[in-house]
Amino acid sequence: MGLVEARQAPHDRLAAYLAEDMDAVNALIRTRMASEHAPRIPEVTAHLVEAGGKRLRPMLTLAAARMCGYAGPFHVHLAATVEFIHTATLLHDDVVDESAQRRGRPTANLLWDNKSSVLVGDYLFARSFQLMIETGSLRVLDILANASATIAEGEVLQLTAAQDLKTDEGIYLQVVRGKTAALFSAATEVGGVVAGAEEAQVAALHDYGDALGVAFQIVDDLLDYGGTTAVIGKNTGDDFRERKLTLPVIKAVAAADAEERAFWVRVIEKGKQEEGDLDHAMTLLKRHGALEATRTAALGWAARAKAALEPLPDSELKTLLGDLADYVVARVA
Ligand code: IPE
Ligand code: IPE
Ligand code: MG
Ligand code: MG
Repeated sequence: MGLVEARQAPHDRLAAYLAEDMDAVNALIRTRMASEHAPRIPEVTAHLVEAGGKRLRPMLTLAAARMCGYAGPFHVHLAATVEFIHTATLLHDDVVDESAQRRGRPTANLLWDNKSSVLVGDYLFARSFQLMIETGSLRVLDILANASATIAEGEVLQLTAAQDLKTDEGIYLQVVRGKTAALFSAATEVGGVVAGAEEAQVAALHDYGDALGVAFQIVDDLLDYGGTTAVIGKNTGDDFRERKLTLPVIKAVAAADAEERAFWVRVIEKGKQEEGDLDHAMTLLKRHGALEATRTAALGWAARAKAALEPLPDSELKTLLGDLADYVVARVA
């Protein structure tokens, strides 16, 4: 690898390595996201799909399959399946979170309406199952069906964990494992399964995806307080306005004195937010080192992801996946 390539971000290097496979995935996504019968479907899906997104999860599936020596066609179907599940959850998530921006564009719920987002999300979920069935593997169906249920569980658990200052790091981890890491781990695991990898390697791929997903969501939650809208393509401060107990807030609440606790009770539990509250929350997060502690937690999960790769044979892809764990924590978008 040349110097220029080495300097690129790991996800760009992974994208370059997997370019041919990713072209096939994108072509498959484009043909399967259409519907001849309901024009609203291609309108909504094109809006979201053409905005891009990092395509992290399909790259994980492709990388896992390739590093286990797969030479057949079905890793492409599985990668498209995983991106469809992801896209469906984004459509639903933006309705639930009442979000206005996604991938640098207005959300579908804002441009069309909640009904369209929910129903087109359902359509994409159903399409994802058609795609995975084409692989003929009941085992991948099992893994991805389980992941789909777990994602929904995580999102529902978050409903009750939000607005409740008793939500601790244990519950937060359960939410994050469900809503985000379940799809990362399924994405890597099915790559190994479709390639017929040894069980120890399939387990390693699962564990890598799980830890990577947790690190990814922790950083996403950090960016909601520390990032900028222009860079992350989503509104910052959304989690605060939605009164979500994400890791930075959980850490600041745990360290709060009586006066600070009264602030958190008002803005998170009672939802009585006023002008300047987000700035004050930021002051408290900084006062207690909550942002640094959150980044440290993400670094720990990234290290676990790297360590999980150990049973897999050394290869360029293994190195790229290891570097991806660093990128996930260093990312600004
Ligand atoms: C967004 O995921 C949802 C989370 C798990 C935080 P991504 O940040 O991977 O979304 P895109 O696909 O790149 O837009
Ligand atoms: C991400 O949820 C997980 C899913 C979409 C299932 P979030 O609500 O935390 O992510 P963003 O910030 O909307 O991307
Ligand atoms: Mg959201
Ligand atoms: Mg959400």
